[in-house]
Amino acid sequence: MRIMVTGACGFIGANFLYFLFGNNGVLDNAPELVVNFDKLTYAGNLDNVKALSDKFADKKQYVFVHGDIASKEQVEQTLKDYQIDTVINFAAESHVDRSIDDPTPFIQTNVLGTQVLLSACLKFGIKRFVQVSTDEVYGSLGKDGLFTETTPLDPSSPYSASKASADLLVLAFGRTYGLDVRITRCSNNYGPYQFPEKLIPLIFRKALAGEKLPVYGDGLNVRDWIYVEDHCLGVLLTLVKGKAGGVYNFGGSAERSNIEVVKLILKELNQPESLITYVKDRPGHDRRYAMDWALAHKELGYTPRWTFEKGIKATLDWYKKNTAWLESVESGAYLEFMSKWYGER
Ligand code: NAD
Ligand code: TYD
Repeated sequence: MRIMVTGACGFIGANFLYFLFGNNGVLDNAPELVVNFDKLTYAGNLDNVKALSDKFADKKQYVFVHGDIASKEQVEQTLKDYQIDTVINFAAESHVDRSIDDPTPFIQTNVLGTQVLLSACLKFGIKRFVQVSTDEVYGSLGKDGLFTETTPLDPSSPYSASKASADLLVLAFGRTYGLDVRITRCSNNYGPYQFPEKLIPLIFRKALAGEKLPVYGDGLNVRDWIYVEDHCLGVLLTLVKGKAGGVYNFGGSAERSNIEVVKLILKELNQPESLITYVKDRPGHDRRYAMDWALAHKELGYTPRWTFEKGIKATLDWYKKNTAWLESVESGAYLEFMSKWYGER
């Protein structure tokens, strides 16, 4: 396989590369070539994949290409130069709050970028395309029930609407042009290298500094947390064992309310609950997500390998050892958004 992985300088993509080149239990051998194609937005960080650039310094098995999935020229050039046969698309604008502040980059990258990639894949005869999507395309659950792959798409935020649009384009390219496409829809990830705008690393960073912890609304919104390596397992299984045109849900079967997660982090860091500050709710805030991954279990043999207890411990240990990483990713653009968004809450 000669794979182009887009967005692999971000949180999940970087973890995916380590999983791909590691002992993943799915592939007997690492792929012949992996191209990490990334625009290096505020969320993309070359340091996240430094161990791979060092290990494969001869660039025979792993290469980084600085590029934008919405650029036809850059995408086509890369597919051609490296004779790519497989594409996995992680690249996206991924933060709901930012999409509320300004939807434009979300449409540009998540919708237009996905179409540019798909068209280039057709042109260059790519054999397999995996789109990394999210449970957020299904909207919100009430107290009961789980999302299945046939739950109607009902996105709430500009982010989830852009991901749902991309999913529809991907499926259309399968039906109309016969491209071999597959979609993964996964619940909330946590683990090493997650950018500190998302709940778990944000709360970790603020709790460590003894700052107020912003909890939206009543703190009782529920997410189904999955350790990032289990998501990587799901994506790789979909690539290797999935069906063309298949959509697969992945989750960690670990539903927790936000306030439970925040209190757990405080306990782990020995910090007081008095830091918790309830702030103005996120508009359109989905109440509950929970995934039914029975189809992935049946067709791909997927079962999460990490419990929430084990995963959160590994994550917090990683952040404790990597506080320098946390500081290094807080660029000007990040600080500007944080001060604007939380200043209004
Ligand atoms: P992230 O924001 O940490 O990383 C995104 C990466 O994509 C960055 O490296 C960025 O530089 C790159 N990128 C952005 N725009 C690009 C463009 N136009 N061209 C090329 N590269 C570009 O995101 P993440 O949390 O790692 O999410 C990865 C994927 O997984 C996304 O598609 C997201 O929708 C999906 N997903 C995320 C979660 C989650 O909990 N984080 C859950 C389910 C699905
Ligand atoms: P987030 O990590 O942004 O992921 P998503 O919105 O994709 O689920 O948020 C997870 C949950 O935490 C979500 O219900 C919103 C909530 N949240 C807060 O309460 N405070 C915060 O500062 C952030 C960033 C999120």
